[in-house]
Amino acid sequence: MASARTKPITSLHVVAVPYPGRGHVNAMMNFCKILLAAAASPKHKLKLLISFVITEEWLGFIGSEEKPPNVSFATIPNVLPSEFGRAADMIGFVGATQTKMGEPFERLLDRLQLPVNIIISDSFLNWAVEVGNRRNIPVASLWPMPASVFSIFYHTDLLVQNGHFAFNLSERGEERVDYIPGISSICLADLPSIFHLKDQRLLHLALRAVSDVSKAKYLLFTSIFELEPQVINALKQEFSYPVYSVGPVVPYFNPEKTSLYTTIQNDHHYLQWLSSQPPSSVLYVSLGSFLTVSSAQMDEIAGGLQESGVRYLWVARGDTTRFKEKCNSRGMIIPWCEQLKVLCHSSVGGFWTHCGWNSTMEGIFAGLPMLTLPILMDQTTISKFIVEDWKTGWDVKRETRGGDLLRREEIAKLIKRFMDLESTEREEMSRRARELQEISGQAIAEGGSSKMNLDSFLDSIAGH
Ligand SMILES: *[C@@H]1O[C@H](CO)[C@@H](O)[C@H](O)[C@H]1NC(C)=O
Ligand SMILES: *[C@@H]1O[C@H](CO)[C@@H](O)[C@H](O)[C@H]1NC(C)=O
Ligand SMILES: *[C@@H]1O[C@H](CO)[C@@H](O)[C@H](O)[C@H]1NC(C)=O
Repeated sequence: MASARTKPITSLHVVAVPYPGRGHVNAMMNFCKILLAAAASPKHKLKLLISFVITEEWLGFIGSEEKPPNVSFATIPNVLPSEFGRAADMIGFVGATQTKMGEPFERLLDRLQLPVNIIISDSFLNWAVEVGNRRNIPVASLWPMPASVFSIFYHTDLLVQNGHFAFNLSERGEERVDYIPGISSICLADLPSIFHLKDQRLLHLALRAVSDVSKAKYLLFTSIFELEPQVINALKQEFSYPVYSVGPVVPYFNPEKTSLYTTIQNDHHYLQWLSSQPPSSVLYVSLGSFLTVSSAQMDEIAGGLQESGVRYLWVARGDTTRFKEKCNSRGMIIPWCEQLKVLCHSSVGGFWTHCGWNSTMEGIFAGLPMLTLPILMDQTTISKFIVEDWKTGWDVKRETRGGDLLRREEIAKLIKRFMDLESTEREEMSRRARELQEISGQAIAEGGSSKMNLDSFLDSIAGH
């Protein structure tokens, strides 16, 4: 490889391997699109071919979706015989992604025609770093969550030292952690939920993956430097290799379609409906795809939306006929939508979210105030950032002082207050949301932090 050092490469074969979960696959695909667009720019003139490695199940999900011509799918067997059992056996599934994917991945590498220049792997796939190191292929580890969440996992030793590892949530949830480098004070209850599950197997799987990241050659965050400057700076000092924030990793452009958010086409019925609503009047509601709320809670949410009198667009999976019957012309329930198009629509004025990182970044990109209803994993932590640190949203549970079940009257009152365009508290929140929107737009513009990181990353992998 000595010649590669002296003579910069002009074409690269990238192998991208996401963790087999919706948010992870989306983030990896979007990153590949962004990388391709940057590589093609006059600055780099780099030809990329990307082999996107997914399980057979995932090929079924996304195989027919539009993708750039330079991305081709390569498959490995499903990690469990039936991945639809994932919800029932989450720990078994996550465990299998760590123990069962590595070997078929290596066999696939042997079958690929072109030599591989770099592997970009999801940080949760701990084996990828080892495979790359064994074969002398550099590995970039992509962390599809906030850098702060990475840092919390990475500094678990500090939690242990301070007696904050494996705590009883109901007794100690309000105690605060203020000793993790770069992370503003956070209470134990807001740490990623796997820190306070009785069953610690999931936590140990996550910790194993995070500790292996230190053996990679690059660490990529789907976050934006300006959103988490202290924590990213602190991590940069701890790692001996480049740490790059490259977010927002949203489909803000598409090689074939130019700018997605300036050419909103009203080709879907829900976009047509949105276009007939007053500016900023609609609350967009999406509470996650895979880990959903209880059916009793859904009834209360539906009732609350209806009673509030506020216009809403609600993306809900499963059987929603009983809610649809109660919808009047102010509400619409749909099973799926192009979320970023909806969020960027001028009629949408608020986003009720479960705080998945992907959705949160899209909400920031669209400049919207948010109502948060985190359910698990990193969602509780992200909700804390939105509410406490960025002050661009309200926590639904806290605002309604609800117990385990939020009541419709409380939900209705909250929604009304949240969407009241005249109120000063809402105006303040909107102003800050627009500031974050500005930050996220600047990050990906020429001279912006994410753009410059992407350029450095490309230069580095091309051997400049
Ligand atoms: C984010 O998640 C939403 C809802 O699950 C989905 O519709 C959208 O395509 C995702 N976007 C990205 C950028 O991953
Ligand atoms: C895509 O692949 C073709 C064929 O190798 C190459 O000519 C082109 O430059 C590539 N495009 C990008 C954006 O890398
Ligand atoms: C946590 O604390 C509560 C209140 O003291 C107690 O009822 C519960 O049993 C504890 N849970 C565990 C797992 O120790």
